Amino acid sequence: MASLLIWSLFYHVCLLELTSTTQTPAYSCSLLGPFEPNFLADGDYIIGGIFPLHYVMDMPDLNCTYKPSPIQCHGFDPRAFRWSQSLRFAVEEINQSQDLLPNHTLGYKILDSCAYPLTGQRAVLAMLNGPSETQSAMCSGPSPLLAVVGESGSAQSIIVSRILQPFHIPMISYFSSCACLSNRREFPTFFRVIPSDAYQVKAIAQLLQHFGWTWVGVLNGDHAYGRFALQGLRRELANTTVCIAYHVMIPLLYTRQRALEILDVMQHSTAKVVVAFSAEGELTPFLKEYMEQNITGIQWIASEAWVTASLFAGSEFYPYLGGTIGFAIRHGMVSGLRDYLLTVNPLRYSNNSLVQELWAALYGCSMQPPGSRSPVSPELPSCTGSEPLLKQHSAYLNTSSFRVTYNVYKAVYAIAHSLHNLLSCEPGKGPFQNSSCANTTSIYPWQLQQYLQDVSFSISGEKVNFDEKGDAIPSYDLINWQRGTAGNIEFVKVGMFDGSRDAGKELFIQDEAIVWTGHQSEVLVSVCSDSCAPGNRKAVRPGEPLCCFDCVPCDSGKISNQTDSIDCTPCPEDCWSNPARTECILKAVEFLSHDAMGLALTVISIAGACLTAAVLSVFTHHRNTPIVRVNNSELSYFILLSLVLCFLCALLFIGEPTPWSCMLRHTAFSITFSLCISCILGKTLVVLAAFTAARPGNNIMKWLGPKQQRVIIFSCTLVQVVICAVWLAAAPPFPFKNTQYSRSKIILECSVGSSLAFWCVLGYIGLLACLCFVLAFLARKLPGNFNEAKYITFSMLIFCAVWLAFIPAYISSPGKFTVAVEIFAILASSFGLLFCLFAPKVYIILLKPERNTKQHLMGRVMT
Ligand code: TRP
Repeated sequence: MASLLIWSLFYHVCLLELTSTTQTPAYSCSLLGPFEPNFLADGDYIIGGIFPLHYVMDMPDLNCTYKPSPIQCHGFDPRAFRWSQSLRFAVEEINQSQDLLPNHTLGYKILDSCAYPLTGQRAVLAMLNGPSETQSAMCSGPSPLLAVVGESGSAQSIIVSRILQPFHIPMISYFSSCACLSNRREFPTFFRVIPSDAYQVKAIAQLLQHFGWTWVGVLNGDHAYGRFALQGLRRELANTTVCIAYHVMIPLLYTRQRALEILDVMQHSTAKVVVAFSAEGELTPFLKEYMEQNITGIQWIASEAWVTASLFAGSEFYPYLGGTIGFAIRHGMVSGLRDYLLTVNPLRYSNNSLVQELWAALYGCSMQPPGSRSPVSPELPSCTGSEPLLKQHSAYLNTSSFRVTYNVYKAVYAIAHSLHNLLSCEPGKGPFQNSSCANTTSIYPWQLQQYLQDVSFSISGEKVNFDEKGDAIPSYDLINWQRGTAGNIEFVKVGMFDGSRDAGKELFIQDEAIVWTGHQSEVLVSVCSDSCAPGNRKAVRPGEPLCCFDCVPCDSGKISNQTDSIDCTPCPEDCWSNPARTECILKAVEFLSHDAMGLALTVISIAGACLTAAVLSVFTHHRNTPIVRVNNSELSYFILLSLVLCFLCALLFIGEPTPWSCMLRHTAFSITFSLCISCILGKTLVVLAAFTAARPGNNIMKWLGPKQQRVIIFSCTLVQVVICAVWLAAAPPFPFKNTQYSRSKIILECSVGSSLAFWCVLGYIGLLACLCFVLAFLARKLPGNFNEAKYITFSMLIFCAVWLAFIPAYISSPGKFTVAVEIFAILASSFGLLFCLFAPKVYIILLKPERNTKQHLMGRVMT
């Protein structure tokens, strides 16, 4: 701001006179600093043109002990020179046109902005002042300047616009794309024929997403353009998967030290894609350093400011910059311009130092005598000036199509069309107060602005108009830097971005036409973390951007079937995750089947049944021996038969539970066991009665004849049958899929239906067993060589022990083991009964037949 003021003071301003409506000539004004237009042409209406004809500015001299000399500019830019020639060409074309502004001529003043805000400001002030005091007529008209075509860089345009604004002079920029310039409050007189960067960052964000580059670096220049573009890109990427890994700024005052630091950041980052919002001028020293450091493998994304920069078209750049991609502003045809450019040579413009500089830049020679203001090195060889302007690859001519040049051309035409409309205003139908028209003899810039805002015309098939913010229709070409035949870089169009299309459909890319950096055909990968395979989810690393994450496998029971899932989804209840956690599979159904355990149990139960049957056959075979007869053979047969059933009912527990097998299992088991214990109980009673009856006067045996025994057995069993009947009627057991116990499998089991009934059934068997145990215990001491009571006591002890042990085991075993435990209890208790009750007898029958005599059995009792 301070520098702005300093420079404003170097000019004594004729501005007051310029804008005042009084026609008095301003004789008293004098210029404080000389600064003349580079190209000047008089006409009825003068338009200004500001171009960065040089790109290096000497720092202003701040020592005011003497009159500071004007700021010097170096580094002639042939490209910007071409733009300025495009303005001249357009004006000349319009002046010759019979349709556009007939009977009127346009004039121009072209000034060098030197590509810096400070010098841009000098240019606009000089333009407003007029070349010298002698041209005082400039101060006498309403305004010597109707509109300005300028500037290139946004930073300069901002200052130029701020200076023009108080005088309501409209300006049309051909290259300033900063989104900040769309603010009508700050820049009310600003128009442009280039789309705002708001669209470019949108396009770049879509490009990054298209190629899956989620980890990118940003390099920007230290100016409005760079800063606003970075800000815009940040905003565009905020809701996407793309993150900015780092952002570095090329300083205004370039130093090698800083460049090396920036290159270090680039080299050490995992982000291989770098978006650069910068211009060729400031990028040149930086990229030279980049090449010197021999850095490769970086995919550059060029902003529109340098994506078609001819400066980098040389073959030495290809190994480093080949493959660069970026959005360029729309190109257009300007017929006749090429021929016009060819007419520019130092012989024709002998006084114009710029043309001599052009020659020096294109041919490396200088005219004699060297140019006056901007010094052309005297050490250069001299040239004639008639060298043919055909040399390929010169920045001046080497364009198959015009982009910025075409924008300048469009801007001039926009002014001409507006002026034409203004001049052809029908009285009474004008846009001004009371529908009046502008006074054609004294047109004010603000009147032209009114027409500019509404202008609409076509140039080479393209419609040109401005929206309410003064912006142009957004449209870009996607440019890829490919190797040309001479090893140079060619700017090949590989797609486009049409901002007027529906959201999401703007970008069109010919992927296969793109050549990537390092002459690759494969897209380079630039991510912070590799994507997560299905079966994993992303876990953000604390304190790091969202693009950097770890991949965590899904928990069991949860899956993710896409790459880069944020979350794992739980499987439905009857499903479970596969080992890879990529899909839900039906849970395994588990039940005690004929697997190893099932088979073993089956074999044991059948073996038990067979053994029991064998014992039975031994008994029937020896039914007439005393040991069988003495011990109540009928009851023994009953016990053996029911034991066979007990062994067999274990088989019901093996296999898939069905409604029938569930109902049968518990009832069959409880009834057979009740039957068995009842028989043993009967036997105990008989033993007890037999010995009690042996005492005189006791005829208890009368009450325990075979008939009564059967009744006892029958009624005891009947109780269990009734309990079972009630159970089956009220809440029968049913097959049940237990998903709770294990998360990964479904356990198919028999639910007891009513646990009360289940425990009643068990309780009843327990009760019978206890009763039996107590009675047998009482009878155990009774005399007799073969007192069954002690065997019964022992068997009941085993029986109770087995079933007491069963309860906790039953409750705590998982899945199919519950059933196995139950079978085990059935088998163990059956074997217990079988062995305790029958092993001693079978032993005597088979191995000690000598003891199988009535005497022996009763011997003791008799004596
Ligand atoms: N679109 C850029 C801008 O608006 C183009 C540009 C021209 C530029 N000259 C520049 C960018 C100098 C940075 C520096 O500024």
